[in-house]
Amino acid sequence: MNPQPQNFRAPVGTHDVIGPDSAQWENLIALFAETAYRYGFELAISPLFEDVGVFNRGIGENSEVATKEMYVFEDRGGRTLALRPEGTASVVRAFVQHQPTTPWKAWYVTPAFRYERPQAGRYRQHHQIGVEVLGTDDPAVDVEVITMAWRFFAALGLTRYRLLINSMGHDECRGAYVKLLRDFLGAHASELCEDHQKVWSENPLRVLDCKKPACIDVTTGGPMLPDHICDDCRTHFSAVLGSLHDLGVEATLNPRLVRGFDYYTRTTFEFVADALDGAQNAIGGGGRYDKLAEQLGGKPTSGIGFGCGIERLLLTRAAESDRPLELLNRTLDCFVVDTTGVDSATVLLDELRSAGIAADRAYDNRSMKSQMKAADRSGARFAVLLGPQELAAGEVTIRDLRSEDFAQSQQTAPRNDVVTTISNLLTK
Ligand code: HAM
Repeated sequence: MNPQPQNFRAPVGTHDVIGPDSAQWENLIALFAETAYRYGFELAISPLFEDVGVFNRGIGENSEVATKEMYVFEDRGGRTLALRPEGTASVVRAFVQHQPTTPWKAWYVTPAFRYERPQAGRYRQHHQIGVEVLGTDDPAVDVEVITMAWRFFAALGLTRYRLLINSMGHDECRGAYVKLLRDFLGAHASELCEDHQKVWSENPLRVLDCKKPACIDVTTGGPMLPDHICDDCRTHFSAVLGSLHDLGVEATLNPRLVRGFDYYTRTTFEFVADALDGAQNAIGGGGRYDKLAEQLGGKPTSGIGFGCGIERLLLTRAAESDRPLELLNRTLDCFVVDTTGVDSATVLLDELRSAGIAADRAYDNRSMKSQMKAADRSGARFAVLLGPQELAAGEVTIRDLRSEDFAQSQQTAPRNDVVTTISNLLTK
């Protein structure tokens, strides 16, 4: 018995990207790739799933993403794996495994999976573009990655975005700060929001990040990280802030910015877009993670990077401008209309495409009228008409589909010269 057909849909919190939207994605990714190469980054591709330990050790097994949102599964060999909830831990695992020469500068584009409550701008599968630099703690790198994202947003045509920045200190000074914060929160535990009354002591830093008024009220009077980092971390942070200022990258200090993963040290930052709804307005985030390589079994190696949500960047772009992103030429050069009845289009298209001309056709021996309609719909610049008459004369008719003047819009060309004729017309 045949199974009943089902009305399958993309799973909750996921979405298909198809035309015309996919052209926006293509443009955005191409622009990011070009930007990344300009800044000296090479592409890194690693598996979408890893041993769950990579993420538990990397982002922290008590982090919200690890405890509540990760897609964890056992494969047929009994290994416990997880779909990547973000890009950094895998890239650093790859760095530890392959030990490339440092500084290693990698960029990536990847889906990321988090079992979140879906809403506009928040998905269970989202997509990130990002970079990671491993092997140096020079503040110039902090400045470089932040500036790269900043300039990329401008190149995308965004105008209303802000950089929020903080320093998380390093292990020791943060450890001392967390103790201080824990003592402070302990004295005010009953005033915290309902959730944090129960869990504040597991990771007191999370309380700083809490958006509920009760937690904000309590922490407003409490100790803040930037006032408690050590001299080295302070010097590093001042150098970063100074250079950003010199480059005209406006940074706003946000002492509550602690980010959701445990790997962060020193510089941490987030980019927010004013065109997006407040709860989901982070278009990117990142920071240093000077202990992560070691936590994943490598030699001590400093690192820093950022990740940006493609969906949120495109939502921001759409909210700010009616013009689609048109950085790549994605229009057809010509459309072959073949009414010879003997499929003359196949050979002609092969010649055109091999010569670098973007060309398409209709199928199924459709009528001239129907093929001309398809040619118009395709957005192609020229129609190349090939009927029985042209076939007999060894010619084609080339029609400029953008011309208003029908008489002027048409010309014939010898069949053997089609590629040269179209190429010449395209450069006019
Ligand atoms: P993240 O802040 O968790 O950082 O994510 C980076 C960006 O991905 C966010 O700013 C947001 O634009 C987008 N994003 C995150 N979750 C979702 C979601 N559920 N739906 C839609 N978009 C989302 C990281 O993932 C770090 N790996 C960034 C990093 C790189 N840090 C150092 N290097």
